[in-house]
Amino acid sequence: MANGNTQPTSEGGQQRRVPQPAEPSGGSRPQRAPHLRAESRPGVVQSGDGARAMVTRAQRRRAMQGQVTRRQLLRVSFWGFFTFSLTGGLGAFLSNFWPRGVTGFGGRIAVSAATVPEAGTDPAPVQIGKFYLSHLQAGQGTHAGFGEEGEEGLLALWWKCPHLGCTIPWRPGFPFEGVTGWFRCPCHGSTYTRGGIRVFGPAPRPMDTMEITVNSDGSLTVDTGKITKGGADNPLRTTTYG
Ligand code: FES
Repeated sequence: MANGNTQPTSEGGQQRRVPQPAEPSGGSRPQRAPHLRAESRPGVVQSGDGARAMVTRAQRRRAMQGQVTRRQLLRVSFWGFFTFSLTGGLGAFLSNFWPRGVTGFGGRIAVSAATVPEAGTDPAPVQIGKFYLSHLQAGQGTHAGFGEEGEEGLLALWWKCPHLGCTIPWRPGFPFEGVTGWFRCPCHGSTYTRGGIRVFGPAPRPMDTMEITVNSDGSLTVDTGKITKGGADNPLRTTTYG
C-alpha cells in the first residue's frame, strides 16, 4: 500500500513507489539557530517546565542589592585613599606653622643673672634674642621732654629700628646734646636714649620692648614672641630687679 512518502515510477510498465526520507515529527518547521535560542538571550530564562519568563530590570536590581560590585569596591578604595592623603598632607602642612619649643628669636630666651647689667650702666646685648637689656635707674631713659620718667628696672629693647628695620647698636661713646651714650641707627641716624626713646631722626616711634620675667635665681626669661610697640611710656614698662 502506497503512502505519502513514496514517489511513483514507470519502470517495467508498472508503477512503483520510491521511499522518501521520513519527515520529522511536528512538521517541516526549521530549527532555530543556537545563538537565537531563548535561554541564550539576556533577560530571558527557561523555567523548569519549559515556559519562558522575562526577568525585569527591577528583578535584576533587587537581585544585585546586597552585593558589592568590583566597581563599587574600587570607588570606595579610591575615595578613602584620596581623603586619607588629603587630610594627612594638610596636617603636615599646618604643623609646619605651629610653633613648638621655639628657641632663639621668636621664643623664650633665658638670660643668666651674670648677664644682667647693673642699674645705670651700659645696656647689654643678647644676640640670640636680638635685644638689649637696659637697666634703668629711676628717672633714666628720657631726654629733654621726650619720654615719661619711671622707676628703676629692666627693659628688653628689640634692636630692630622702627624706621626701616636696620639693627641699632648701642654707642657708649657717642655724644649728643650734652650726653654721651646713645642707641644710634647707622642707616638714617635715628637716635634713642637708653630707654629706647627716640630723640632724633626719621624713626616714627621709640624702640619696641619685650616681656621680661625674673626667675628666683636672678636669671631672666625674655619672651621675644611678645613684643610691644615702643612708646613714650617705655621707661614706665620696666621690670623690677633685685
Ligand atoms: S632704619 Fe634706622 S633710621 Fe632708618
